[in-house]
Amino acid sequence: MHRPRFHLTAEATWMNDPNGLIRHDGAWHAFFQNNPLGSTWGNMSWGHAVSDDLATWTNLPVALPFSDTELIFSGSIVHDAKNTSGLGTSGGDGPLVAFYTSAFTPSHPTTPGIQAQSIAFSQDGGATWTFYADNPVLTRDSENFRDPKVFFHRESGRWVMVTVEALDHSVHVHVSDDLLAWESASVFTHPGLDGGIWECPDLLRVPTPGGGEDSWVLVLSTNPGGPAGGSGTYTLVGHFDGRRFTADAPPQPLDLGPDCYAAVSFSGVDGDPVLLGWMNNWAYAEQTPTAPWRSAMTLPRTLHLEPASDGSLQVIQHLVTPEEIRTLDLEVPATSAVLAELDAEEPFRLRGVLATGSAHRLVLRFGDGGRDRDLVLAVDSTGRVSLDRSSAHQEPFAPEHTHSLPYAPARAGDSISFDLVVDRSCVDLELDGGRALISQQIFPGARTVTVFTEPAA
Ligand code: FRU
Repeated sequence: MHRPRFHLTAEATWMNDPNGLIRHDGAWHAFFQNNPLGSTWGNMSWGHAVSDDLATWTNLPVALPFSDTELIFSGSIVHDAKNTSGLGTSGGDGPLVAFYTSAFTPSHPTTPGIQAQSIAFSQDGGATWTFYADNPVLTRDSENFRDPKVFFHRESGRWVMVTVEALDHSVHVHVSDDLLAWESASVFTHPGLDGGIWECPDLLRVPTPGGGEDSWVLVLSTNPGGPAGGSGTYTLVGHFDGRRFTADAPPQPLDLGPDCYAAVSFSGVDGDPVLLGWMNNWAYAEQTPTAPWRSAMTLPRTLHLEPASDGSLQVIQHLVTPEEIRTLDLEVPATSAVLAELDAEEPFRLRGVLATGSAHRLVLRFGDGGRDRDLVLAVDSTGRVSLDRSSAHQEPFAPEHTHSLPYAPARAGDSISFDLVVDRSCVDLELDGGRALISQQIFPGARTVTVFTEPAA
């Protein structure tokens, strides 16, 4: 009863980071960190699923399996349309090239314990994969060098790879003409993000509002040090010249909730980048009460920039919401009222406007005739909005990670929009026209839900 319908899950095993996200030949491919043999982290391989609409996913066989000497850690995929790598067949439309981190195990004969970047390629649109014979293609003889995200930079005409040195809190930028030989271009670090190790970088090209040179958004995950505690994801808005990223503003949370990690974008997308995050948190991921599958991805979200009132650029995200989901448009008073009674097992979406002038709560009370479980969207007396799951679970869960970071609207005493998707255990909330997103897991295990409002106690 916890398994979501529209959030990607592995069929019967463990999942963490999204990997190799790509839109290719009209299909959305999501690969992911997967333990093909169990429900906890280990034996890391790339699982694979595909979707036509980003809402319904079909699981496919494991794409890149682990071996005795190598675990397949996180990475990305590009379509090498011009066959710059020479890995394609002549006359074909170019291979898909996957970049992943080889995490060499203690049994590796020459480089045990080292993490380096390696390649696999596919000639059949991602169905089957061949490991490149001369792996790894990039090594620093480091034990924490990982998570390659590769993209083509059209101004320089070169491929770019961003990776992390996780313990050093640095993002390494390498460039290449052929995806095989990589040259070091720069190293980025930032004093504002020192709460944990750095993982899973991505660099997104985003139009600058008002025109001119494109902006770039560095997406970076830290563990711990996340916005809501434990692991989480940040954005840094800045510039990129093909070799070096420069941040123009301090880091901002990508998501104010506890359950959005390792978020990265799909390759092959024109227009606004589309990202998926792992909807879990390293602080408690292995204790989530589902079996044998464990973990989901967030709903996809698009990202763009808008000018903020102080002249800076603000990251705006919109949930990509399944078209067929049951949707209720609610009038939400700041007084007490019952708004809806719903079947909790059927995914639903609630939209409306929250007055931020007085403290009140929108409560989703889950029940099955036994103890009530509440998910609370709370507005405090200063107009800040947060999502509280402290009593939303059937059994005690994540007691130290109960609240999102509060969202403080720029305009106090006004009102803000909300768009809340509840897909069984997966909750995604868009606030204030996309100025904030909150991802949270809940485990109410209930059949019904009553939606009501009440003034804050
Ligand atoms: C992030 C991460 C990555 C690594 C992968 C291993 O969650 O630790 O840095 O590649 O997971 O599963």
